[in-house]
Amino acid sequence: MSLKEKVDKEKLPKHVAVIMDGNGRWAKQQGKIRIFGHEHGVLSVREITEGCAELGIQYLTLYAFSTENWNRPRIEVNALMGLLVKTIRKETETLMKNNIRLATIGDRNQLPKNCIKELDEAIEATKDNHRMTLVLALSYSSKWDIVNAVRTIAAKVREKELLVEEIDEELISKTLTTGNFPHPELVIRTSGERRISNFLLWEIAYSEFYFTDVLWPDFRKKHLYEALLDYQGRERRFGKTGEQLLAKNDA
Ligand code: IPE
Ligand code: IPE
Ligand code: MG
Repeated sequence: MSLKEKVDKEKLPKHVAVIMDGNGRWAKQQGKIRIFGHEHGVLSVREITEGCAELGIQYLTLYAFSTENWNRPRIEVNALMGLLVKTIRKETETLMKNNIRLATIGDRNQLPKNCIKELDEAIEATKDNHRMTLVLALSYSSKWDIVNAVRTIAAKVREKELLVEEIDEELISKTLTTGNFPHPELVIRTSGERRISNFLLWEIAYSEFYFTDVLWPDFRKKHLYEALLDYQGRERRFGKTGEQLLAKNDA
């Protein structure tokens, strides 16, 4: 039985989110500049997008560029933006072929104009695709998203469109840039780092975490299957006891 066959299709997470990390270290190991690692990371993006769609996962969010990443050397930032434009242009056809819709989260106004244009075209072209939604987190940070949502909600209260008592978890979830997507059941981080780096703080309240030492440019479908099998072996209790869950399964 292959690893892929071992994955229980009935117990798939609806939404997998990935912190793609380790491109720079991967390049360094090969004696190359960091950008070489980012270029190779694109192959992993393709592989994992395809892997998730094949299995029937409905949402895949990829953390591609954080708000904090703007502080990297200008040459690296420019190369990443260039790579983004090139990749979107090149991959739109593959997204169409695989019936995948593209979406983004984050502060898009910070992105270069040609990047926004390329993204808009791809989002428009793929908008009716429904096999899977691929969400790219670009110039994204969760604290930025939360601050923005608080401002939006506060403005509505000021304009008397909303009562303070009407502010609840659902409203906050909907106001975030992730508002149209379910919260991820599984978050994967590559490269051995065990931190969140300002990613989906609100949305991961009950997510499962999977950390692997594999560097992102080496991450292949088999690593995705390993993460999913690990996830499927866990008991998600949501505050209840294990016995309560067993009783419910017997009922
Ligand atoms: C992840 O790889 C890609 C981005 C953050 C854009 P890194 O570039 O962070 O690689 P390391 O962590 O330095 O190895
Ligand atoms: C997090 O990776 C952001 C992305 C994967 C895009 P970083 O490599 O920027 O995170 P830190 O700085 O090591 O926490
Ligand atoms: Mg990193």
